[in-house]
Amino acid sequence: MPTATAPAGPAAPPAFAARATAVEGSPVREILALTQRPGVISFAGGLPAPELFDADGLHAAYEAAFALSARRALQYSTTEGAPELRAAIAARATARGLPTGPEGVLVTSGSQQALTLVAATLIEPGDVVLVENPTYLAALQCFRLAGARVVPVPCDGEGLLPDALADLVARERPKLLYTIPTFQNPTGRTLPAERRAAVARVAARLGLWLVEDDPYGDLRYEGHDVPWLAAHPGAEDRTALLGSFSKIMAPGLRLGWLRAPAALQRAAVVAKQAADLHTSTVDQLAAAHYLATVDLDAHITAVRAAYRERRDALQAALSSTLPADCEWNRPEGGMFVWARLPQGHDATALLRTAVAHDVAFVPGAPFHTGTPDPRTLRLSFTTHGPKEIAEGVGRLGAALAEYGGGGGARG
Ligand SMILES: Cc1ncc(COP(=O)(O)O)c(C=O)c1O
Repeated sequence: MPTATAPAGPAAPPAFAARATAVEGSPVREILALTQRPGVISFAGGLPAPELFDADGLHAAYEAAFALSARRALQYSTTEGAPELRAAIAARATARGLPTGPEGVLVTSGSQQALTLVAATLIEPGDVVLVENPTYLAALQCFRLAGARVVPVPCDGEGLLPDALADLVARERPKLLYTIPTFQNPTGRTLPAERRAAVARVAARLGLWLVEDDPYGDLRYEGHDVPWLAAHPGAEDRTALLGSFSKIMAPGLRLGWLRAPAALQRAAVVAKQAADLHTSTVDQLAAAHYLATVDLDAHITAVRAAYRERRDALQAALSSTLPADCEWNRPEGGMFVWARLPQGHDATALLRTAVAHDVAFVPGAPFHTGTPDPRTLRLSFTTHGPKEIAEGVGRLGAALAEYGGGGGARG
């Protein structure tokens, strides 16, 4: 006979891990989904321009990877990565001023995975992670998923303030600083060399890991390269440098890399084994073949020329269209312009009106830790040509006037 306490149906499975439910999706994702429809000029995505992919060159590289050894290309391979790709990445890093051997490179599935591996390797739940404010959304998600307490470092128009960093390190005893020093996402800012040197000194003096994320560094349109943070005295034994082929080859390849001190690298290899064993063999061999046979730097030069023109088109359109009390910066490279609406405006509210005018951007609020600045927004200039950019900014100006913020167009 059944007892009175027998369950009526199947018992629910146990709850999700707290960290999985603590990390929310993006609140603007819903609005941005509307921007996928045809006719919308979107400054929202952080995507490279697909018409600039070297599709023929990459196609040939995949064919070569199969032709040279389909058995190898289709087989499991080592966690650290294909030796020829590691060697090619190391040579590029060395040429950019950071002597690197192939053994110092771990190939990852996008630089996003390198970030996840570093987080898995370094962060205990409750550890403090310092970040620029604002910073890259998926990095915030990654650190929160790892259970970190994310604390923003005060920044100005050039990025991190080293003295404020030193104060925070002394007070919060953080595990690491995550920074995108070159053409930052979302602000486009670049940290000057003297501040990089100061950040490295703070890390060495007070004891701190540095995570330097550099997916945009090759996309410089003017000015001079600034040496990696990892190359500054004090940073050598404590910097995880994250690189990517996403913005200079194609993001669909999902190829990135980690260059880190040996012990951290070894721990990241173990974390990667647990995550995915290794990055796709065929993709690695195709990329290695591409690097051996095509002049990637010549390709990057062509991409830079197109993006420079688009950046300049956006700057010109913003100057001629937006009210005088709007502000924006002029990045020397990368993909993003960071803008600020006049007093009392809210970029998330403006986005709704903008989408009705068939133009989109990303409000700045979600990129912030702590109290966001609701007036800020990010404009990506890479995926439209100059004419569409001018048209898109015109629509943005109309949206701004309708939404109620118009202060009169500039002459
Ligand atoms: C700052 C930053 N880091 C990492 C990534 C991820 O790049 P990947 O495609 O190499 O994973 C992005 C992508 O937009 C990014 O903006």
